[in-house]
Amino acid sequence: MKSVLITGANRGLGLGMVKYLTKQNKAENIFATCRTPSDELKQLAQENKNLHILNLDLTNLNSFGDVVPKISQVMGDQGLNLLVNNAGISTKFTKLQLVKSEQLLENLTVNTVAPIMLTKALLPVLKQAADKHSDRPVGAERAAVINLSSILGSIEKNDQGGFYPYRCSKAALNAATKSMSLDLKKDSILVACIHPGWVKTDMGGKNAPLDVETSVQGMLDTILQLKEGDSGKFLQFDGTELPW
Ligand SMILES: NC(=O)c1ccc[n+]([C@@H]2O[C@H](COP(=O)([O-])OP(=O)(O)OC[C@H]3O[C@@H](n4cnc5c(N)ncnc54)[C@H](OP(=O)(O)O)[C@@H]3O)[C@@H](O)[C@H]2O)c1
Repeated sequence: MKSVLITGANRGLGLGMVKYLTKQNKAENIFATCRTPSDELKQLAQENKNLHILNLDLTNLNSFGDVVPKISQVMGDQGLNLLVNNAGISTKFTKLQLVKSEQLLENLTVNTVAPIMLTKALLPVLKQAADKHSDRPVGAERAAVINLSSILGSIEKNDQGGFYPYRCSKAALNAATKSMSLDLKKDSILVACIHPGWVKTDMGGKNAPLDVETSVQGMLDTILQLKEGDSGKFLQFDGTELPW
């Protein structure tokens, strides 16, 4: 793959993906976006000249268009092969009696509105990649958008209740993923959403059963194997299909 852009790349699963991709030499150019680069990400960028750190606050919706020229500066007319909408937030203490409208709106902004608007902003470079690499099958090697969802966004799997801001924002992201997969089919851009498993990160907490490396390896192996018929699916990190 010639290029990939990952949001929220300073820590957690986003940083894990950057580490994996640099180590495995899976992408010729990696665009790692974040609000503030961590020391680890800065160190990786020093060691890997194909890793480009871009500043991006996902609540600053009007800034998304600025990313396109930065990609083109590096990629020329090759476009962007893979967009991973990874960054996300999860507000705690959100049982029905406690939930606040601000929490619902904040989760929707970062987890749903931002991935939709960033995908919209990056469509020119995604389409460019799809056209430029028309000799390759539909998938991440050509052009694809992967949205980091969660099993908590599955309506069918909800047997615990609560988590209003997070569940609603991820269920909405799932709905957006399905629409995007249909809308972008004619452009040969694959779109799918993926649940990373319950992973030891700041969000997942230390009791999570999976480490970042296992989840990331599973997700990237799955993502890189996706084919045209997988567009519009809700998958787990290991490739298992999940119910909406
Ligand atoms: N860990 C799990 O068990 C789990 C399970 C299911 C789904 N997921 C999903 O996986 C994705 C990654 O989660 P994670 O576990 O890696 O979470 P994390 O460790 O909490 O990291 C979240 C990332 O999102 C970024 N972010 C949050 N708000 C942002 C904003 N306004 N603008 C730019 N970046 C922003 C953070 O950047 P800052 O450092 O600037 O805040 C950070 O890089 C999320 O979409 C999450 O919902 C995780």
